[in-house]
Amino acid sequence: MPLYSRITGTGSYLPAKRLSNAELVSQLAVQGVETSDDWIVERTGIQARHFASVDETSSDLAYKACLKVLQAANCPAQEIDLIIVATSTPDMVFPSTACILQNKLGIHGCPAFDVQAVCSGFVYALTIANALICSGSARKALVVGAEVFSRILDFKDRTTCVLFGDGAGAVVLEASDQPGILASDLHADGQFAHILCTPGQVSGGQVIGSPLLQMDGQAVFKLAVGVLEDAANAVLAKAHKTSADLDWLIPHQANIRIMQGTAKKLKLSMDQMIVTVDQHGNTSAASIPLALDVGVRSGRVKPGQLVLLEGVGGGFTWGAVLLSL
Ligand code: ACO
Repeated sequence: MPLYSRITGTGSYLPAKRLSNAELVSQLAVQGVETSDDWIVERTGIQARHFASVDETSSDLAYKACLKVLQAANCPAQEIDLIIVATSTPDMVFPSTACILQNKLGIHGCPAFDVQAVCSGFVYALTIANALICSGSARKALVVGAEVFSRILDFKDRTTCVLFGDGAGAVVLEASDQPGILASDLHADGQFAHILCTPGQVSGGQVIGSPLLQMDGQAVFKLAVGVLEDAANAVLAKAHKTSADLDWLIPHQANIRIMQGTAKKLKLSMDQMIVTVDQHGNTSAASIPLALDVGVRSGRVKPGQLVLLEGVGGGFTWGAVLLSL
């Protein structure tokens, strides 16, 4: 039985349509919604985001990210024996986006399922894939985060619609006798479900409740910085490491101020953090694998380095994964 799992490739995909703050600001102005490039940059660090076209779904973005990751890992699709997709914006109520993706990739028979943990989805999915590989249930997993958050944004609510974008990121996780995933730490606390949610439900052929994202931004902000510090320290302690051992912190990309706060608490310099929130906005479950792929493909994040991934999001959910690349 393999002792460990390792990431052997990364890939990502952003939809073609890119909207700068200036473009979004003028589109919102037409609807009477007032905001500005200055406000968005100062409060969030976001300068631009990508939006999927009307006929593009999470599985379409995931499929394109997977073509890249399979090539990077030099892994034929037929060798994949587990597919996990983290998403809160699935193609359909059912079947899962993972099953739709599996069919697009021409893979048949392996287990495929979605994980719903909002912006923490990728660290949840990676932890599950690692456990299935280490128990001998799988050898080569595709672990994907894919989102089309533009579909659930309320473009009349300036406090949320400027924050999010669409995209997908993926890794191939393989059985290995060398340590890759070193430790993980996952949490949830449903008492905070209301501070970040999309409450609508499908019932009797109708959507009951709002199908659009709503958020108490300040409550999310306050919780996020504390739980991210706790998850980082917990995962480092489990692997008998300290933050001084880290080469990279790749956090969920929600807001540059949350990211700066986390780096400060862990005594890390901003040069040790991969930042994509400026160009991608918050892509929820896709943001961590997207940022990891950007780090790897730019040559900054290298094999053998110690990397901390951490996510926080609706649920309330949070968690971290420590890995040697
Ligand atoms: N443009 C201009 N003004 C705005 C905008 C906007 N887009 N949005 C809000 N404002 C105004 C508010 O109305 C308020 O005006 P007022 O003082 O006259 O009432 C003022 O700006 C300040 O609003 P705050 O909410 O206090 O702004 P804050 O500095 O807290 O920033 C933000 C808001 C960016 C949402 C911040 O709270 C935040 O980043 N929170 C965390 C969000 C987050 O990370 N969410 C994702 C979690 S992951 C997931 O699971 C999806």
